[in-house]
Amino acid sequence: MATLPAPVTMDKLVSLCKRRGFVFQSSEIYGGFNGVWDHGPLGAELRNNIKRAWWEDYVYKRTDIVGLDSAILANPAVWRASGHLENFTDPLVECRNCHNRFRADQIDLTRNCTVCGKFDWTDIKQFNTMFKTFVGPVEEDASVAYLRPETCQAIFVNFRLVQGAMRKKLPFGIAQIGKAFRNEITTGNFIFRLRELEQMELEYFVRPDQADAAFEELLGINVEWLVNHGVRRSKLDLYEHPDGARAHYSRRTVDIMYDFPFGKSELQGVANRGDFDLTQHAKASGRDLDYFDDETKEKVTPYVIEPSIGVDRASLVFMLEAYYEEADKEGVRTVMRFHPRLAPVKAAVLPLVKKDPALVALSHEVFASLRGDMLVLYDESGAVGRRYRRQDEIGTPFCITVDSQTLEDRTVTIRERDTMEQVRFSMDGIRDEIERRLRLPWLRPD
Ligand code: GAP
Repeated sequence: MATLPAPVTMDKLVSLCKRRGFVFQSSEIYGGFNGVWDHGPLGAELRNNIKRAWWEDYVYKRTDIVGLDSAILANPAVWRASGHLENFTDPLVECRNCHNRFRADQIDLTRNCTVCGKFDWTDIKQFNTMFKTFVGPVEEDASVAYLRPETCQAIFVNFRLVQGAMRKKLPFGIAQIGKAFRNEITTGNFIFRLRELEQMELEYFVRPDQADAAFEELLGINVEWLVNHGVRRSKLDLYEHPDGARAHYSRRTVDIMYDFPFGKSELQGVANRGDFDLTQHAKASGRDLDYFDDETKEKVTPYVIEPSIGVDRASLVFMLEAYYEEADKEGVRTVMRFHPRLAPVKAAVLPLVKKDPALVALSHEVFASLRGDMLVLYDESGAVGRRYRRQDEIGTPFCITVDSQTLEDRTVTIRERDTMEQVRFSMDGIRDEIERRLRLPWLRPD
């Protein structure tokens, strides 16, 4: 069956996301809220699966990485010491005529305003993109606090506490998944650039002389993680940030770029932050954040290698990579070929007819046996072909059909999403069989 040549467009994906409950505009009934999106039932599931896969691979499968779950708010001293109060800025320019604001590095200031067509720019000023709030009942300068713009600072601030509690020796890492907030001047491209986002960050602490090797190794591991979960290698690229254009903390940064429908853009950053953060926090807090080597009796200020990826951006890429359209005899079959580990719904139970009470009872028995550790759907409405298509469109790897033969021999059919092959299997062993299939290595059909 030929795959249609038409590539996935953002419009197609956005429409599927809304229709099938992946992503909704925040506060949609009030006209939305710029740069903020809500995740529907299937989007919540996809994100949980991405986060679980990341955590299992980086924390559970390794002995040298531990987890942390820190607060979104922190003492503002953290952001002074980290350099965010001074440096976490974007260049802002305003059109004096229509008062629209733009990131000065994203538009051509020798040309007229793209909104109103006039040429009347203000000077560029640096705009700090941290969200401010007040802690306690009084709105005064002394009570200002910030929503974290990246999750990693709490890792640095807690470095000695984590290292001591878990008795880790260099090299070791601390991983964290959590919300971050950025008051981006311009947002857009769906869930690509957000004001409320979630990050999966690993801070890997090494002796300074091991930093270059650790950087190369972690860069490779992170690219492979994406490829192993269904991202085509041909859609990825590496971008080395040149000297003078890196973030204030970085000694080296390589972005893992993805070829989005709107152009190549950063999916993930990998940075060598050197000892910048630990040194800054030690200086500002007056506390010793060095690592003490019990064997050699030496003190080391570790360097840190940081792979950092947004959950939202990762889910956008996994959805774009999953989206297929195929011609079939009824028109176009849309299939979300998610890696089974990431697929929001793992299986669907479909009774062939809904009017036969014995068959329906068996279907409910199969459904009950599968539920508990994974999301399983039950669908009895419409022709079975239609129901298969509905499941294909949300990427359900397995459909289990209960038919008249089930009444005779307690077997059901398992229909596989990518090949559409069907095999009969005993309904009594169905849960183990689906779990076994979900764990099998998976390769993109193309
Ligand atoms: N701690 C390092 C750090 O935060 P970053 O390059 O600013 O580095 C890391 O962000 C990752 O977080 C990006 O590669 C991207 O996946 C995600 N990210 C950053 N800003 C984002 C935004 N406004 N919306 C969605 N994702 C974002």
